[in-house]
Amino acid sequence: MLIFMILMIMMISSLPPTLSVLPPDYLVAKPNCTDRCGDVSIPFPFGTTPDCYGNYSFFVTCNQTIHPGPKLFLQDSDIEITDISLDGQLTVLPYIARECYAPNGSRDGHGASLTFSDFIVNNTANKFTIVGCDAYAFISGGRLDNRNYTTGCMALCTDDMVDLVEGSCTGLGCCQLAYIPKDVRRLRIELRSFANYTTRSGFDNCSYAFFAAETAFNFSRQTVADLKNVTKLPMVADWAIGINMTCKEAEKNSSDYACRSSNSTCYEPVNGSGYRCSCQEGYQGNPYLVDGCQDINECELRKCRYGCQNTNGNFTCLCPKGYKGDGENCSLRQSVMLKLGAGIAFGIMILLLAATCLCLALKRRSFNKMKQRFFLQNGGIVLQEKLITRQISPESLKIFTSSDLQRATNDFDNNMIVGQGGFGTVYKGFLPDNSIVAIKKSKCIDPDQVEQFINEVLQWHSFFPRSQSSEGRFLSWDIRLRIAAEAAGVLSYLHSAAATPIIHRDVKSDNILLDHSFTAKVSDFGASRMVPLDHTQLSTMVQGTFGYLDPEYMQTNQLTEKSDVYSFGVVLLELLTGRKAITFDKPEEEKNLANFFLSVLKQEHLLQILDDNILGNDQNREQIIEVAMLAQGCLNVRGDDRPSMKEVAMELEGLRLGGKHSWVQNECNAEEMESLLGEGYNGHFIDGDGDSTSVGFDSLRSHDVLQMSGGR
Ligand SMILES: *[C@@H]1O[C@H](CO)[C@@H](O)[C@H](O)[C@H]1NC(C)=O
Ligand SMILES: *[C@@H]1O[C@H](CO)[C@@H](O)[C@H](O)[C@H]1NC(C)=O
Ligand SMILES: *[C@@H]1O[C@H](CO)[C@@H](O)[C@H](O)[C@H]1NC(C)=O
Ligand SMILES: *[C@@H]1O[C@H](CO)[C@@H](O)[C@H](O)[C@H]1NC(C)=O
Ligand SMILES: *[C@@H]1O[C@H](CO)[C@@H](O)[C@H](O)[C@H]1NC(C)=O
Ligand SMILES: *[C@@H]1O[C@H](CO)[C@@H](O)[C@H](O)[C@H]1NC(C)=O
Ligand SMILES: *[C@@H]1O[C@H](CO)[C@@H](O)[C@H](O)[C@H]1NC(C)=O
Ligand SMILES: *[C@@H]1O[C@H](CO)[C@@H](O)[C@H](O)[C@H]1NC(C)=O
Ligand SMILES: *[C@@H]1O[C@H](CO)[C@@H](O)[C@H](O)[C@H]1NC(C)=O
Ligand SMILES: *[C@@H]1O[C@H](CO)[C@@H](O)[C@H](O)[C@H]1NC(C)=O
Ligand SMILES: *[C@@H]1O[C@H](CO)[C@@H](O)[C@H](O)[C@H]1NC(C)=O
Ligand SMILES: *[C@@H]1O[C@H](CO)[C@@H](O)[C@H](O)[C@H]1NC(C)=O
Repeated sequence: MLIFMILMIMMISSLPPTLSVLPPDYLVAKPNCTDRCGDVSIPFPFGTTPDCYGNYSFFVTCNQTIHPGPKLFLQDSDIEITDISLDGQLTVLPYIARECYAPNGSRDGHGASLTFSDFIVNNTANKFTIVGCDAYAFISGGRLDNRNYTTGCMALCTDDMVDLVEGSCTGLGCCQLAYIPKDVRRLRIELRSFANYTTRSGFDNCSYAFFAAETAFNFSRQTVADLKNVTKLPMVADWAIGINMTCKEAEKNSSDYACRSSNSTCYEPVNGSGYRCSCQEGYQGNPYLVDGCQDINECELRKCRYGCQNTNGNFTCLCPKGYKGDGENCSLRQSVMLKLGAGIAFGIMILLLAATCLCLALKRRSFNKMKQRFFLQNGGIVLQEKLITRQISPESLKIFTSSDLQRATNDFDNNMIVGQGGFGTVYKGFLPDNSIVAIKKSKCIDPDQVEQFINEVLQWHSFFPRSQSSEGRFLSWDIRLRIAAEAAGVLSYLHSAAATPIIHRDVKSDNILLDHSFTAKVSDFGASRMVPLDHTQLSTMVQGTFGYLDPEYMQTNQLTEKSDVYSFGVVLLELLTGRKAITFDKPEEEKNLANFFLSVLKQEHLLQILDDNILGNDQNREQIIEVAMLAQGCLNVRGDDRPSMKEVAMELEGLRLGGKHSWVQNECNAEEMESLLGEGYNGHFIDGDGDSTSVGFDSLRSHDVLQMSGGR
């Protein structure tokens, strides 16, 4: 991702850098030599002293005292120099020729001459010009080979000068010669008048002749008038090394060879006046000096669009980093494209990876949320809260996580299935402590059943404190009947079999315990009292559990065995209905199970209240109705109207033995019961040792314990 971003930034920032142009600063003259006189630079081979000039031909004098000055003169002459160029030119200021005539006939004027010992008059940059209305002039040139050269021109005009053409020398007032030979080094100008201005008077009776730079004079009335004050006009001369010498000849004599600098070259001017030196392309400076030619830093001249690299004598335009080309046309480097591609690919990969991780995390979160929701929906929270509020120890009832169950069933392995029904599948499972458990996996959750399930879990937990809640729910009718019969037998024994009748006083489902084979035991004799034989009634403080309490005993405080019978009747109701003796969250008329049962019975709506799980076949129904009738008897308000505990026990035992043994209550329950009970079941909420004498009795704490296993 980072690489990707860096690449993007790199692509954006490729603006051309700004360059500053520096003036060329090169060696002009020899060290310690005057290289300037006023405005005029004095490059070697010119010099003001013998040490500084290369040859006397190039000797110049700088007169500092002249005014206005200083002024530079050629050698010790009066030829003023205004410019010296290393290209081989120099500009001098020679006098012009003039002549003026006074009305009295006197003549005032002079001709002009110029002599170069080693320089040549530039034949292309200068022109010979005559200005006047009555004038003619000759120009005589001495050439290199000493031959003479002469030509002339005349300027005439009429008195009114109406035909004068300003800007061009047509012979009318101004005559001009553009051509002179190329190798003239001596000049002499003679100016004459035809009639001493006696017939013409134009231009103030004056005439002028000069050989000057083309740009120095542009013919017009004004410029002619100005000429009155002008004594000198610039002229271009050529200089070269070794008059009458070629480059080849000069190079042979290396000690006198003027092109001293490295990276300099020699060339011959077209006028054949010797040779000249120049710096090679890419260098600038004075080629006549050692190391005079210096490399030009072309990069300072903004020659490149993007980057620039100066080299010795040349330069290279660079493309932005990552691009290739000549600096003008730049294209992405392949390697960069690869890098870029790799970067993008890497970035995309990272993005995908991140997205995948995020997706997985979200999925996991939503899965956990879903689990949490299911936990909530299935009553997990309610169950937890109830466990906490009722202070049930975690050992006696434990909530398993789905992963616990998965581990126990080897991830719900098909080989672990022990039963299947309409409501779900029952698996055999192993807990970490190697105890075998049955696990029911529901196919669907009916929200209405959740509440019921939780209540059942707690009810059966309290009914059979040490048994698993779900087991209690699915206890078949036969087992319930057996539990009832066995419990009744125990109570009957208490009442009659013992030498002294014992009244339990707190008969309730909590005090009927089951071992692993669902053998019932009656516990908690903390409230029980020995009743002397001669006293059939005992007056005590009313004691017992609300919902099970004998109403007669409550009214009279007279404790008899029939109080236990009443309480047992309520227990029977609990077995029949799967409801608790007292349920506070039910409507008023249903809160007290005994009262509700009696009212339902009165309205002949018994089926309404019975536990669905025991309504199997018709045979059971007969037994159930029998037990319901028995319970009704037990619940008689008058103790005397109730059957004795012995009668109850015998009735139940009779029903149990007479009834057909059929585990099958319904399809679903049958399988579950098989799975629950089939393989030497050792439920994990029951102590693992399976010792019937100890099972579940820790809830009794310090109370007396009567071991009644199997006792009837
Ligand atoms: C230049 O002149 C200075 C003193 O004027 C002198 O010390 C120096 O050596 C001279 N350099 C050369 C190259 O002549
Ligand atoms: C100037 O130098 C050249 C050689 O470079 C030589 O031939 C010539 O005679 C010299 N001229 C003078 C006036 O010293
Ligand atoms: C400089 O010019 C002045 C005035 O023209 C002259 O007197 C003087 O001699 C000149 N100096 C040199 C060195 O030529
Ligand atoms: C002619 O006139 C000029 C002034 O215009 C004067 O300087 C000169 O001396 C005169 N010549 C004669 C011979 O008179
Ligand atoms: C050229 O003219 C000069 C004077 O102007 C003269 O002295 C010389 O002899 C002439 N040369 C030739 C070859 O005629
Ligand atoms: C012009 O004047 C000069 C002297 O000033 C004289 O010698 C000459 O003859 C005159 N020419 C004409 C045509 O008058
Ligand atoms: C020019 O000369 C003529 C006669 O030769 C004279 O008449 C005229 O005034 C002169 N012009 C000037 C401006 O001196
Ligand atoms: C010539 O110069 C003088 C003084 O230097 C000046 O008064 C005059 O106007 C000038 N003439 C022209 C035509 O420039
Ligand atoms: C120039 O050189 C040629 C031959 O190379 C020679 O004939 C001629 O006289 C020379 N001229 C001068 C002015 O040295
Ligand atoms: C300039 O001179 C240096 C030193 O002699 C040399 O190395 C370089 O190649 C020369 N450059 C060119 C363009 O000839
Ligand atoms: C004469 O001057 C012009 C312009 O300054 C220049 O281009 C030309 O090369 C010169 N001629 C010679 C022979 O140097
Ligand atoms: C400078 O380099 C360019 C291209 O690299 C080349 O075309 C050119 O001839 C070189 N110039 C010199 C003086 O070497």
